[in-house]
Amino acid sequence: MKFVRFIMKNAALANAPKHIEHFSKFSPSPLSMKQFLDFGSINACEKTSFVFLRQELPVRLSNIMKEINLLPDKVLLTPSVQMVQRWYSQSLMEILHFLDKNPDDHKVLSEFVDALVTIRNRHNDVVPTMAQGIIEYKENFPQDVVTNQNIQYFLDRFYMSRISIRMLINQHTLVFDGTTNPVHPNTIGSIDSQCQVGDVVQDAYCSAKMLCEQYYLRSPDLVLQEMNHKKKNHPITIVYVPSHLYHMLFELFKNAMRATIETHDCSNNLPPIKVLVSLGGEDMSIKVSDRGGGVPFRKIEKLFSYMYSTAPAPQIGDHSRTPLAGFGYGLPISRLYAKYFQGDLQLYSMEAFGTDAVIYLKALSTDSIERLPVYNKTALRNYKMSHEADDWCIPSKEPLDLRNFKTA
Ligand SMILES: Nc1ncnc2c1ncn2[C@@H]1O[C@H](COP(=O)(O)OP(=O)(O)OP(=O)(O)O)[C@@H](O)[C@H]1O
Ligand SMILES: [Mg+2]
Repeated sequence: MKFVRFIMKNAALANAPKHIEHFSKFSPSPLSMKQFLDFGSINACEKTSFVFLRQELPVRLSNIMKEINLLPDKVLLTPSVQMVQRWYSQSLMEILHFLDKNPDDHKVLSEFVDALVTIRNRHNDVVPTMAQGIIEYKENFPQDVVTNQNIQYFLDRFYMSRISIRMLINQHTLVFDGTTNPVHPNTIGSIDSQCQVGDVVQDAYCSAKMLCEQYYLRSPDLVLQEMNHKKKNHPITIVYVPSHLYHMLFELFKNAMRATIETHDCSNNLPPIKVLVSLGGEDMSIKVSDRGGGVPFRKIEKLFSYMYSTAPAPQIGDHSRTPLAGFGYGLPISRLYAKYFQGDLQLYSMEAFGTDAVIYLKALSTDSIERLPVYNKTALRNYKMSHEADDWCIPSKEPLDLRNFKTA
């Protein structure tokens, strides 16, 4: 029986490329925060959501699967990337199974929720597995500029696509699992229509502080200030996904704590981490400031690279230690979370002093619209780009020998 199932699964996977070709011709449809809320409240209709997702999920999966195939062979053929590719094909086929199913049948709807949960679990380890694939590439091949550029371009889009797919799956499974969330009545799926930013800052700080104390036996204090320019002296709230905000802040706190402690190694006093939350008409910004010695300006862009971390790479499945630094994905993935709803994350650093990390989010839910990668000619061109000569002069390492210019 097991063997028959195995044969059938492989036969289905063999058909995947045909479906990927078909669904990648459609562009993903970005949803606004307001649409997410409507889907989960006034217009909450499981049938509509089912019909939307059985088309939209294959489109988002197929768009990004076309890009996986464009990776250079030395990356694509690593065992880890091959495994991720198989997970994507299998999940695609499992959703396509619902294409000809009747949306009026309750059994179909509940099987769909189960399928989404299975898919979400299957993809839990995509980030560390992909990171492992990059390590396999780095260990086996000499680095080249074009491949590194391709990896950076691809991973930003791949992880953004993953964030968006998980968002769709979470909304559907949370909204239609038949229960309400008694702790957070303002929560619709994973969105909080009155997310108190200060509370999330405190939560993220406490978690990072705990990790920090386990590892370094001390931690810097937090000084939090809010500037609500819309409603003076009121706590700042926005319509947002608290878990996304928490993720970004947790990463920034871990970095700020590590830098603070490592630069004040010999001192009894640690300078606090200062957080300023500011709400305007267009932006809701959060600045996390530390006095952890900063980073040279030349390196700032590198910190967002998936190929760079100053900490030793952890092994998959190594849960024995709780370091404040891992794969070096803290900043790039946090920036993707910020960008996902049209925000951003930027780092301003002063070497020898400290760093300000600023998260910019949209203040209005009507401006918070998903930012999604689409597979098209422009994307294709980006993978095919070769490394061309720089159109700015490269300074010579040797001093110029002015004797050559002397006239006789
Ligand atoms: N506030 C900061 N002050 C000084 N250096 C920083 C700061 N934030 C980040 N960095 C530097 O940027 C690097 C990359 O940060 P990032 O959070 O992306 O990865 P990581 O901390 O090395 O690992 P991970 O976050 O995945 O556990 C860090 O290793 C560190 O050298
Ligand atoms: Mg980090």
